[in-house]
Amino acid sequence: MLTQVKPVFPESIEEAAQLIRDGELVGMPTETVYGLGANALDETAVRKIFAAKGRPADNPLIVHVSCLDEIVPLVKYIPESAKRLMEAFWPGPMTLILPKSDAIPSVVSAGLDTVGIRLPQSEAARALIRAAGRPIAAPSANRSGRPSPTTAQHVFEDMDGRIPLILDGGASEVGVESSVIDATGEVPVILRPGGITPEMVERVLGDVRVDEHVMSPLAEGDVVRSPGMKYKHYAPKAKTVIFDGAAERVIAAICTRYDEAEAAGERPAILGFDEHDFGGRTRISLGSVKRPQDAAARLFGALRELDERGETVALCEAVEATGIGLAVMNRMGRAAGFDIERV
Ligand code: TXA
Ligand code: MG
Repeated sequence: MLTQVKPVFPESIEEAAQLIRDGELVGMPTETVYGLGANALDETAVRKIFAAKGRPADNPLIVHVSCLDEIVPLVKYIPESAKRLMEAFWPGPMTLILPKSDAIPSVVSAGLDTVGIRLPQSEAARALIRAAGRPIAAPSANRSGRPSPTTAQHVFEDMDGRIPLILDGGASEVGVESSVIDATGEVPVILRPGGITPEMVERVLGDVRVDEHVMSPLAEGDVVRSPGMKYKHYAPKAKTVIFDGAAERVIAAICTRYDEAEAAGERPAILGFDEHDFGGRTRISLGSVKRPQDAAARLFGALRELDERGETVALCEAVEATGIGLAVMNRMGRAAGFDIERV
């Protein structure tokens, strides 16, 4: 199959919408990461997503809508707390877990009785959903086990020959996937941290829990509330270690480890901040230390770069695990198998 990449224009949106209506897959920009979209109500189309990604069938998909009204037929009811989160944070980088209606094929929800719904901020994403006239099921558009794509080029690397069209809407602004929030119970639970932070949810609902698996690896026998947590994601080929502590100690520890690795014949690289001086050692930038949103926007690209350059050891600077920093540390932590050294 020939994979075309087209910039977002009314004509390319219309072409993509027609492909969606015809049961095909489209790579689509969103403000978080690029998605691999299909008509959420077409079981055969949704199966193509799992095949193209190599995704396990027990990992459910998020359904994207272009306005609030479109949710009504997709869910059984909307809990009061979920309504308040929608008002506060949609359109935006938040997915809400809601009780699903029979309109959602069970292949989408991987057999669960809930469905994740998201109203994205991205104009291009909403225009596509509107033009298709159907809700769009879309996981991140990476092959399973690869970092999520934040540019159309990343999608092309993973999906060339597997899908007919990728819409190029430029780099995703947020750079990490949406916050996944279960608001069906008494206290909302953040299953996956993202652009809508625990602090923001707490301000709206007064209370919030962060699932324990956000910052720890799974132990055998652990029951997960979100199937995606089971899978080892975002792991670069390089052995990845995170250093956490005061900046000077982190920089010193990283430099020492870098030199040891190099002396042992490894190819080390640093994922570090622009303000920090690593004395000319290979560094892939996480942006400014003053803007954790830079690290969010750059992390997945940096992980892809490690593999492209054939680095064998990755030494990463931690960010503070609050605000968007929690999402950064969750993704970085998973890339490193939560190998975090406190210095
Ligand atoms: O930002 C995003 O959310 C991107 C863009 C494309 O919207 N999408 C995305 O989808 O990241 P995906 O499939 O890569 O990640 C969805 C996560 C998975 O970890 C999945 O297990 C979880 O959400 N999830 C989906 N439906 C769920 C449900 N009903 N209950 C619990 N977790 C669910
Ligand atoms: Mg994903």
